[in-house]
Amino acid sequence: MQTVTSVAALRDVIRQWRQAGQSVGFVPTMGNLHAGHIKLVSTARQRANRVVVSIFVNPAQFGPNEDFASYPRTEQQDQEKLIASGADLLFLPEVTEMYPQASQTQIAVGSLASLHCGASRPGHFDGVALVVCKLLNMVQPDVLLLGEKDFQQLTLIRQMVADLNIPVTIQGVATVREADGLAMSSRNAYLSPQQRQQAPRLYQALCAARDAIFAGNDDYRAVAQQQWQILQQAGFIVDYFSICRSADLLPAGTGDLDLLILAAAKLGATRLIDNLYFSKTRI
Ligand code: PAF
Repeated sequence: MQTVTSVAALRDVIRQWRQAGQSVGFVPTMGNLHAGHIKLVSTARQRANRVVVSIFVNPAQFGPNEDFASYPRTEQQDQEKLIASGADLLFLPEVTEMYPQASQTQIAVGSLASLHCGASRPGHFDGVALVVCKLLNMVQPDVLLLGEKDFQQLTLIRQMVADLNIPVTIQGVATVREADGLAMSSRNAYLSPQQRQQAPRLYQALCAARDAIFAGNDDYRAVAQQQWQILQQAGFIVDYFSICRSADLLPAGTGDLDLLILAAAKLGATRLIDNLYFSKTRI
């Protein structure tokens, strides 16, 4: 695996692949790689001849009081994992390479960016859209692989790519979970041993809400409220717990068939997010 830190070097390598007629899959990450990222890489391997991974902790998507400075940076271990996973090229830029000057251009992806995580992290999705758009322009991949754990991010990037006619196919990849159901996340490393034991309750709450709907409870507000309370009693500070339409992430009505339950909650200072998709046609 080659590692490059400049956009010029990245483009040089990719140009040679293109000249040889090879397709490119791209996995953008912020590093601190876990099995969820590795599944993105292995899926990219199946979809394209060459796999590019970026590691860049993007300051533009962190709020002033968020964990940009303390976000786990584990480049050495990440590089070893990427070599083992069969990635071809790692793009590892400094902030000055990605943002040589303060960006005057913003990408605001409409109301999707202000729902759910966007409501409690103002500006977060503008920063995500900006960096992903820049990375797509740099790499120009055939396929972009994104995890379904960040379902709102995935939906928003799909929207941006459609709106801006960016020529890339997006493939969402299913969330990878620990044996006890906790969705894998770089931020799980912040949890104390006691919080780590509590953390799978978030996924359990999503499953309980889905099961209540499968059992015929169509009062989605009440279903969500009940799980919110259960989480609160277990020590979580719940940010949102919403039963939505999977297509646009707006509140679901009883006639909607493709549903997504999304939740975010804090355990201590650690903010966990998770979601569960299901189709009512299977009831
Ligand atoms: O999901 C992430 O890790 C980040 O939001 C992304 C897509 C790499 C953009 O910085």
